[in-house]
Amino acid sequence: MQISTLSNRLSRWQWAGLASLFVIAFITIIQYPLATTSTDPISASKNAYSLTASGAVSKFHLLLPASGYHFRLCRAVASAIALGYPVPVLNGWMKEGDLDASKTHLAKVRTVMQYLDSLPASSDDDLVLMIDAYDVVFQIPPDVLIERYFAITKAASARLASRYGVNSSESLAADDAPRQTILFGPEKVCYPVDWSRVGCWAVPQDIGIPRGAFGPDDGQLQHNLPRWLNSGTIMGPAKDMRLMFAATLDRIVKHYDPNHEYSDSDQMYISDVWGVQEFARSMRELRQYFHGDINPNAAFPTNEEKVVPNLEPDQRTEYHIGIDHRSELFQTRAGSDYVLEMLTFNETTDVNGTTTFATVTQNIAESPNFTPYEIYLPSNLASSITRILRLVEPAVGVVPNVTDIALETNIVTKNIYGMFHSTGGKDWIDQLWTKLWFFPYVRPLFEAMVPALQAGWPIAVADGRTWVPSHTLSANSSVIQGINATGVWKDIDDGWLSWQELCGAFHAEVFDGYTPPMDD
Ligand SMILES: *[C@@H]1O[C@H](CO)[C@@H](O)[C@H](O)[C@H]1NC(C)=O
Ligand SMILES: *[C@@H]1O[C@H](CO)[C@@H](O)[C@H](O)[C@H]1NC(C)=O
Ligand SMILES: *[C@@H]1O[C@H](CO)[C@@H](O)[C@H](O)[C@H]1NC(C)=O
Ligand SMILES: *[C@@H]1O[C@H](CO)[C@@H](O)[C@H](O)[C@H]1NC(C)=O
Ligand SMILES: *[C@@H]1O[C@H](CO)[C@@H](O)[C@H](O)[C@H]1NC(C)=O
Ligand SMILES: *[C@@H]1O[C@H](CO)[C@@H](O)[C@H](O)[C@H]1NC(C)=O
Repeated sequence: MQISTLSNRLSRWQWAGLASLFVIAFITIIQYPLATTSTDPISASKNAYSLTASGAVSKFHLLLPASGYHFRLCRAVASAIALGYPVPVLNGWMKEGDLDASKTHLAKVRTVMQYLDSLPASSDDDLVLMIDAYDVVFQIPPDVLIERYFAITKAASARLASRYGVNSSESLAADDAPRQTILFGPEKVCYPVDWSRVGCWAVPQDIGIPRGAFGPDDGQLQHNLPRWLNSGTIMGPAKDMRLMFAATLDRIVKHYDPNHEYSDSDQMYISDVWGVQEFARSMRELRQYFHGDINPNAAFPTNEEKVVPNLEPDQRTEYHIGIDHRSELFQTRAGSDYVLEMLTFNETTDVNGTTTFATVTQNIAESPNFTPYEIYLPSNLASSITRILRLVEPAVGVVPNVTDIALETNIVTKNIYGMFHSTGGKDWIDQLWTKLWFFPYVRPLFEAMVPALQAGWPIAVADGRTWVPSHTLSANSSVIQGINATGVWKDIDDGWLSWQELCGAFHAEVFDGYTPPMDD
């Protein structure tokens, strides 16, 4: 492959020279997104300074529950480092027993809880992103992901406020008032399947996407709406995440049955915490109209037998949980692969070329007299990707235009998703890896990102705050080490794990896209 050949040929010192170019390029580039209101370079840099100095600074944490070595873990880490995410923390690395994720999925809940418990109160409003380490890869950079997170949760909180007869989420500010701050990935079926489970039946009916949008409403998995919760990708503030994980552990203690087929499914317990929340929210809404007993079978019209939660008067049910139904952040695979298309956004609406779009010709909803439709490339994503491509320009020479690259898009919700989660099989993620827009540049991107990851430079400005990574590279990492300067942190205080040690054996899989045969 041309790019890795080039990087192999460069000496250490040539890299050092290039690295200083990257520093300059990156400093210039990192200021660009801070200038939100003006394109005039002078006021832009003023804005950059005032925003950075005046806005509160919050941290962004990236957690990967992972117990041992695997090339897919290395691809997940590589996609994070290449796109400028915080240096990841591996939760439960090489742990045993209850904390060993290869033995029980519940280890994830326990080891992430340990991490959240270790954070000081000053981190309560930090953002924490937890992803399944062995079947997720990032597609978009963190600035756009964080912007989308706030747009989705704020809109959802406003909708919740209107459900309760008020028009501002401010009046629902109490700690246990309905509000949305935690986002989970979506599922097209309740899994583990058991329709008596509250996490299966007490789910929101209106998710903002009409029935039939994914194909005839015939109960087939792929035609279902993505109503349910998937626990493999979660993003929210540290404090709310801690409360939600604590509620999940509490549910595990109370409901754990070693003979149950899915007794070690973290998703079962977490989705039931969400189900109880949704049940309580719906009851709260109905009590505005029905001033007596409310029959859950009328409130939640399914034909299945239901286990109705028995709520204590003072029991907390509200954990601010919501689902990213439109896959702006999280795209799960099961039942959705047929709505994912690699699109090139190379058509323009006007002579100035200000908006670029792709045309979709697949009739997913099976509409009569189907007409092809357009999906637009969001401008914040276009400029974020362009910034990253420019980072490697000095190293690789010519880089493509953002309008030349292919981005995998959910053609029903029209979103270029943030990350792909390969639920129900790994073939898809293995095939996706080499098609991702940044795959040809993973290696030079690693090198280009070292100064930023070392210094903890701002990742984004969103919600009136400047976002910096929770973790930077090991203090003794040096720019001239290039790829060897990168790595991850193990749990709370188990120290540094270098890229070489974690992934040195998987360079063919990461940089050349080789996938070993017969690997599940
Ligand atoms: C809704 O918002 C408007 C404007 O903020 C305010 O004047 C009005 O009183 C609010 N209504 C309710 C019911 O809170
Ligand atoms: C846009 O990209 C597609 C896919 O690469 C290609 O087939 C098509 O010719 C391109 N269109 C334009 C206008 O460049
Ligand atoms: C294109 O750019 C010109 C010059 O900047 C401007 O006058 C015109 O309104 C633009 N056209 C559109 C459709 O944006
Ligand atoms: C990228 O595309 C835009 C719009 O088509 C064009 O104006 C620009 O020259 C292109 N840049 C490069 C480097 O090809
Ligand atoms: C670099 O620092 C890490 C922890 O920060 C430590 O584990 C490692 O041994 C150090 N390496 C060298 C070469 O000093
Ligand atoms: C990274 O470390 C490996 C193993 O120690 C070494 O072979 C390689 O040359 C190093 N790469 C760089 C860029 O220093």
